[in-house]
Amino acid sequence: MIQYTDELKEEIRSANDIVDVVSQYVTLKRSGRNFFGLCPFHKEKSPSFSVSPDRQYFHCFGCHKGGDVFTFISEIERISFKEALEFLAERARIELPVSQNSEFNKNQYLKDKMYKINAETAIFYHERLYKPLAKIAQEYVKQRKLDNKTLKAFKIGYSGEYNELYKNLKAKGFKDEEILATGLVNKNNNGEYIDRFRKRLMFPIMDVSGRVVAFGGRKLENNEKLAKYINSNENLIYSKKKHLFAMNLAKQSTSKKIILVEGYMDAISLYQRGFDNVVASLGTALTEEQGRLLRKYCEQVILSYDSDGAGQEAIMRGLSILENQGCDARVLQMDGAKDPDEYVIKYGSGRFKLLIDNAISLVEFKIKMIKNKYNIENSSDKIRFLKEITKILSEVENKIEREIYIEKISENYNISKEAIYAEVNKEVYDVKSSEKILLRPIAKKEKQTEINPITIKRENMVIYLLINYFKESYEPIVTNISPDDFKLEQNKFIFEKILNSTAEESEKIVQSLANIEDSEIQSHISEILVTDYEISSVDKCIEDVVNTYNKERLTNRKNEIVKQLENISDSTSEKKSELENELNNIIIELAKRK
Ligand code: UTP
Ligand code: MN
Repeated sequence: MIQYTDELKEEIRSANDIVDVVSQYVTLKRSGRNFFGLCPFHKEKSPSFSVSPDRQYFHCFGCHKGGDVFTFISEIERISFKEALEFLAERARIELPVSQNSEFNKNQYLKDKMYKINAETAIFYHERLYKPLAKIAQEYVKQRKLDNKTLKAFKIGYSGEYNELYKNLKAKGFKDEEILATGLVNKNNNGEYIDRFRKRLMFPIMDVSGRVVAFGGRKLENNEKLAKYINSNENLIYSKKKHLFAMNLAKQSTSKKIILVEGYMDAISLYQRGFDNVVASLGTALTEEQGRLLRKYCEQVILSYDSDGAGQEAIMRGLSILENQGCDARVLQMDGAKDPDEYVIKYGSGRFKLLIDNAISLVEFKIKMIKNKYNIENSSDKIRFLKEITKILSEVENKIEREIYIEKISENYNISKEAIYAEVNKEVYDVKSSEKILLRPIAKKEKQTEINPITIKRENMVIYLLINYFKESYEPIVTNISPDDFKLEQNKFIFEKILNSTAEESEKIVQSLANIEDSEIQSHISEILVTDYEISSVDKCIEDVVNTYNKERLTNRKNEIVKQLENISDSTSEKKSELENELNNIIIELAKRK
């Protein structure tokens, strides 16, 4: 294992501005010194996720995740800290030191070869499509109305016979084990090498940056025995859960929407007719990873599945995966054609555009599904329908959004608005009161160890001052405040850490704190760093904070003395007059500080 040096870490850190990096996953808006957006780590409707460009930190005030750019990447890509470092080095095109023979390097070398083989293969298939022996494929693309520009844009091709590809790759100097690793060629029992894809129309699958990672091949013969499509198997560089067909093209679109279809042909056909923002899932239901990828490049996803294809469950799952990731997800509804390709050929792109504009949300989709169960002309069915949709409507948190739905339902299903409101209000009220009962015992339990938020805020302020104004604040704070004054453990830990550093190290204090790997402490530091305390005078602020601590200490001592005095009965005791003296001084001290 290679250990990277701190200097290298810093080089990578400073080459990856946290605002740029986070912006690839979250839409950020500036407000004051910081940027805000919807947290990618938990579901929320209003932004509590904050990024500080000054401090190069992020923090979510909702779920309390926070840290630096490495933490962010390791959390969002679900990779280790070290992998995050490598990821960001690649992003900034910083070369990492390599040690010969390491497992990591062998993998890198093989991966690199696999990308090259895939790239060569795509060219080989594509060029082959234009040769005389590809007549069957040429006729097929004509029949599917694909024009030449589209064939070029997607590098569509035609695969050869027997072992044509294998021979070609060998001639290019690739080794057998490298070729086998891509799965493009298989070795049979007789030790012969045979191409996986033969006489099929070939669709290269590319990753976001346009590198070919796999292929899908459609049969051209009308042979029932052949699978319609065969695809590359998963391998070192390809996972169908992670990739989306045509994402490399869709990410270049200026549209903030992405249309998600099921088939290669749907994506290609829509692209040719002016929709440059289409991607296809690769024969699987939408996965979390694909959801994140979509979220990275758009704000709204329109699910445009085949009309008979995916079941309601799959659509609902897809919608909720996307919504949980803070993406506005909608379903396109299509009648009169089995899939988007057939629809757009039959009715034109104008009509398809209308379908996009009329795509419905998850709530509307659920309501429509319920509607299909009932005959709402029948009044008892209508009541059941109303009861069921009420549950869904009451889960819509935003009041305005809820009103819009009620408006729409009233219109579409001919039910009076008042009737819907009456039901929804009942439900909302019931849910709220049952929630309260549930919450109460939990809240009580937490009370005992709960620390006053004002105290936490004050402690945070001390840390904030030390980090940001080390020179001015170190002396007065250290002489007046001790680690034991801190109630919150994280603050105590950070405070002690700072106490142990010298003034020279103060410049690097944030960095040294960043290397603490405890996630609770990371989260706490990031919270302090991204909070905007709006300090107008640093000296005044330090004075106030120190003062509060001293006052608190004096007050505590005062109360202690009063208690002790109550327990002393002998009025002439020396101890008593001593305490009374001290008490007087404290009262004078406190009065001065008021
Ligand atoms: P479709 O059958 O809808 O494919 O399957 P399509 O792209 O519309 O193709 P045409 O119009 O019939 O030519 C949707 C997707 O499911 C995967 C492919 O990714 C396909 O694009 N699939 C389908 C397979 O992997 N294998 C199959 O045998 C069928
Ligand atoms: Mn189709």
